[in-house]
Amino acid sequence: MVDATSPSADKNSPEVTANGKTVCFQQQDKTLLNCLEKNDIEVHYHCRDGFCGACRVKLNKGQVLYPQGEPLAFVGDDEILPCCCIPITNIDITVE
Ligand code: FES
Repeated sequence: MVDATSPSADKNSPEVTANGKTVCFQQQDKTLLNCLEKNDIEVHYHCRDGFCGACRVKLNKGQVLYPQGEPLAFVGDDEILPCCCIPITNIDITVE
């Protein structure tokens, strides 16, 4: 279990809060989608490569990075594609 009240984000393992459940992102997860799946948080996906946009979730708070460059699929200002991003701060997302 992760302490959601810890004062500062560990740069290498930011906390991910999805629909109120907090889990820890680890570098070996490689993508946010892998991290969510590992923790039984179900996200729809298709390509897992930033093309289709099927995995789109709402980013309420925090910042993510796209290590392979900006994805091709359309994303709104407050949306991210978990299949190809990683959190760089603690983040809070809403998974539909
Ligand atoms: S699964 Fe296709 S963009 Fe994420």
